[in-house]
Amino acid sequence: ELRNNTIIIVFGASGDLAKKKTFPALFGLYRDGFLPEDVKIVGYARTKMDEAEFYKRATQYIKNPDDDPAISNKIDEFKKISTYVSGGYEDDPSFEVLENRLKGIESTYNSNERNRVFYLALPPSVFIPVAQRVKKYNYATDGVNRIIVEKPFGKDLESSRELLGALKQHWTEDETFRIDHYLGKEMVKNILILRFANIALSSAWDKNSISNVQITFKEPFGTEGRGGYFDEFGIIRDILQNHLLQVLSILTMERPVSFAAEDVRDEKVKVLRSIRPIVPHDTLLGQYVAANGKPGYLDDDTVPPHSTCPTYAATTLWIDNPRWDGVPFILKAGKALNEAKVEVRIQFRDVAKGIFQDISRNELVLRIQPSEAVYLKLNLKTPGLYTRALPTEMDLTYKRRFSDNKIPEAYEALILDALKGDHSNFVRHDELDVAWKIFTPILHWIDGKNGPRPKPLPYPYGSRGPKEIEAFIKKCDYTRSLEG
Ligand code: BG6
Repeated sequence: ELRNNTIIIVFGASGDLAKKKTFPALFGLYRDGFLPEDVKIVGYARTKMDEAEFYKRATQYIKNPDDDPAISNKIDEFKKISTYVSGGYEDDPSFEVLENRLKGIESTYNSNERNRVFYLALPPSVFIPVAQRVKKYNYATDGVNRIIVEKPFGKDLESSRELLGALKQHWTEDETFRIDHYLGKEMVKNILILRFANIALSSAWDKNSISNVQITFKEPFGTEGRGGYFDEFGIIRDILQNHLLQVLSILTMERPVSFAAEDVRDEKVKVLRSIRPIVPHDTLLGQYVAANGKPGYLDDDTVPPHSTCPTYAATTLWIDNPRWDGVPFILKAGKALNEAKVEVRIQFRDVAKGIFQDISRNELVLRIQPSEAVYLKLNLKTPGLYTRALPTEMDLTYKRRFSDNKIPEAYEALILDALKGDHSNFVRHDELDVAWKIFTPILHWIDGKNGPRPKPLPYPYGSRGPKEIEAFIKKCDYTRSLEG
């Protein structure tokens, strides 16, 4: 339930994440009437600036392309419910200043209930210092307190456990909302319904019918300007270990007892625990090089020279349970590729040969972005006086099929869930732990912890990735011919 008397405090308010995602999402919810009626928003960051400057930054990425006066009015109203406090992340007096401001806002409430949602859009280095001080100075005693945190949650199993352990000293699991923003995406949220509300699909959802599954993330831009952060983490920690693994767990989990958060997350954890830790043999790494007038990864000034950090990775996961035994799940992600696309491709097995010699497989595609779509490749008889199979598709492109429905931004969906206290689409501590267990061996190998660092394969900026990927996916029985 949404609670009145709520303040949302955004730490890191002048940072990129807050400007590009958090504030636009808060505004979207406000504009559409989804925030609690009397909600107030407080931005907090180190930058010293006046309110005017804060408003400018906080609304910088809010879209109003046609200068719609109704939206402009809403933006003005949104500014009125927002305010800014500047202060350090590691000095106690700043949090007392913040507390005074919060109390000032709350003094206008007409009941004793005070609820506070703390959103940490912060770099990992100040994550614990802030979480600890907020608990000490800003914890509301007469209401509900929640803390929203963002990755990176550590760099491997050990550091993640340390971080979570430190956070746990101050905040309970129930109060903690760990964001993986892919869980807020419409098509990802659709997977549960698609799988479990359609018997035509659920009865074919196993190794007997499915040959292989591929989950792909492609971005057409490099790490420009963000190289410092990226080089420390690499594409596996940035995308595979969280976003793509989350999608995989929802695709492969057993049917939960209910849609309740703990029931869903129990099943996700169970399937994740059945995944084998990744080995080098099942992994391909790439790094982009200059091409088409665009710089290579190593040309970025913020990247250390000779870095072997992968900007592209493909890896095959194996689930050791009766449903999925032997089915390869290929996760692949890359920066500086030929297009922007995130999709799941489920390839079904070939039909028995005999009457059909050369026939396409069925394939179910879930396009997560851009332009959400579900489509199923089917064979029909070519219309006319022949008996010939025609590969075609049943196409549910959302823009055409649901033109009246607005698709929410992932962050809108997640912030609203956190305000309601619904954990379904947030990452539970044990989920994170097992995700790190799967990836830690391969990450240590890449980091050169037990030998020389593997050298990533070069691929040109704007290409489809290292050319070796073709043989890699073929080994997993993936048929490229269905694409297009
Ligand atoms: C973030 C990564 O988690 O996800 C970024 O750190 C990446 O590197 C981004 O660009 C992609 O998110 P989306 O929603 O644009 O697919």
